[in-house]
Amino acid sequence: MKSIRIAAVLAAFAILPATQATANDDGQKAFEKRCKACHDVKFEKHKVGPNLAGIMGRAAGTTDFKKYKALEGVSFTWDETNMDGWITDAKTYQKDHADMFSGKPTTMNVKVKDAAERASIIEYLKSK
Ligand code: HEC
Repeated sequence: MKSIRIAAVLAAFAILPATQATANDDGQKAFEKRCKACHDVKFEKHKVGPNLAGIMGRAAGTTDFKKYKALEGVSFTWDETNMDGWITDAKTYQKDHADMFSGKPTTMNVKVKDAAERASIIEYLKSK
């Protein structure tokens, strides 16, 4: 009996990293397709948009990026919920949550309509 339980535990550990690797690969691919043209995830530079290294859990609009519009001077923190809304359709999200933003229209014209794709991008961002 005991050896079966140990085998089951070992099997669970063997499966877990493999699943995470897949989720992260999907997230990386989706990020590269949807976000990378405008965002870097290393601590090096800003592109058309601000650097996103460590973005999950960070206060919005607080890098030294010079061209924040909607996110200039805001006071909220990025979590899974607002990130999901933001990348679903940034312009509509701003319109629907006007109290969260500065009032200047965002220049991030991005719509990721697929919920699973958004979730994988968010998982990827959490790892950066
Ligand atoms: C066409 C260029 C472009 C693309 C593509 C783009 N963004 Fe952006 N992003 C921007 C710009 C510009 C800003 C600044 C927005 C503002 O202040 O109005 C921004 C801001 C952000 C912020 C806020 C950062 C902070 O410091 O608070 C997050 C988070 C973000 N983008 C995530 C994403 C994700 C995730 C994707 C891919 C699904 C993506 N963006 C795709 C241009 C882009």
